[in-house]
Amino acid sequence: MTTIWKTSIAIVLVGSLLACGGGDKPSQPPGASAGAQSPEAGTSVQSPKVEGLITAADLQLGEVDAAMAEKGKITYDVKCQACHSTGANRVVGPGWKGLVTKREPAWIMNMIMNIDVMLESDPEAQKLLEECLVRMPNQNLSKDEAREVLEFMRTL
Ligand code: HEC
Repeated sequence: MTTIWKTSIAIVLVGSLLACGGGDKPSQPPGASAGAQSPEAGTSVQSPKVEGLITAADLQLGEVDAAMAEKGKITYDVKCQACHSTGANRVVGPGWKGLVTKREPAWIMNMIMNIDVMLESDPEAQKLLEECLVRMPNQNLSKDEAREVLEFMRTL
């Protein structure tokens, strides 16, 4: 019993170091996330079914729109850069490189626009909070602004 506990604690510790510690490695190493909620490598994380949250049906994603991404970059510089890098390394929150390959677009939009609901009800968001130890403050972006930041993320 005790050995099992020690092992699980070790897995959790290693998992959090890897997941928020950054580096250029892919951030979902096999076995790093022991929770039943974690997706298989390569699959995307979806938002919880809570009323008011953005769903995939609310978003249209085509080819990357450079003008939108440019506007998103400006918002990033002003409101996000203090805590997020565009690389894989963590500052206060996780780096954004490759984020759109790991997370559903709607999930990302909800992290931007509905962070409190997400931290309350989404296991992946809660896991990030455990790793980063800081609650992301709501930056009060409009839906258009959040969508532009998402477009910027698609270029990273
Ligand atoms: C004060 C620091 C801070 C600022 C400013 C901030 N964030 Fe965050 N962000 C975090 C933290 C910390 C997390 C991890 C979740 C948590 O602990 O609340 C996070 C998580 C995220 C995630 C999920 C990342 C992942 O790996 O899945 C996204 C997306 C995100 N933030 C977008 C934004 C955007 C867009 C802005 C600017 C409009 C922004 N954040 C501004 C601290 C910040």
